[in-house]
Amino acid sequence: MTRTTARLLALVLVSVPVACDGGDDDAEGGEFIALQRDFAGVGTWEVMWSGAGEAMAAHPAGMRTVYVNDPPPAGDEFPTGTILVKTMESSAVDTGLLIHAMAKRGGTFNPDANGWEWFELALDDEDRPIIIWRGEAPPDGHCYGCPPGVDPATAKGMVDCNMCHAAAAENDFVHSVKLR
Ligand code: HEC
Repeated sequence: MTRTTARLLALVLVSVPVACDGGDDDAEGGEFIALQRDFAGVGTWEVMWSGAGEAMAAHPAGMRTVYVNDPPPAGDEFPTGTILVKTMESSAVDTGLLIHAMAKRGGTFNPDANGWEWFELALDDEDRPIIIWRGEAPPDGHCYGCPPGVDPATAKGMVDCNMCHAAAAENDFVHSVKLR
């Protein structure tokens, strides 16, 4: 069992009793606003992809795992409410684990990435996922997998989730989980 799997299984054990089904998350206009509790139990979600990932500039090396809350049907788009969580094991950060996510919010949100909202997550002291930031882009000072010592201001493309994921626009901005 990898360290990631062990930690995520641990968080499942502590978080299942308080998990809600998230059924009231839909805001006006059919948008899905993911709440922290919607990430609970991510360790039990289906693993859609895992691998070492491509070497990219400023990208820490390490095993990646992509989980989905609800596997998508074949089609052109991921349904509103889909959440993909990607963990990256990295010795470059103190916690040993970087966690990013994308949730299909839909509506008029982030039209440059077809309604996806971006997240960085972390595990709390009891290994439950917490939201560090969310939005159409990371806030100032944050970047994609930047280990300590890599300045987001100079990491160029690493701060722009939309841009890099546009390379997978024909698969609804998702690299690793194929719709067809
Ligand atoms: C330098 C290019 C690049 C940037 C910038 C980038 N990503 Fe990714 N992302 C990838 C690639 C490539 C994958 C496929 C898995 C892998 O190789 O690690 C991926 C996978 C993902 C996944 C799993 C679903 C999928 O598309 O495969 C999530 C979630 C994710 N990224 C979130 C983010 C967030 C949040 C940001 C912005 C903070 C971001 N990404 C910025 C290249 C990038």
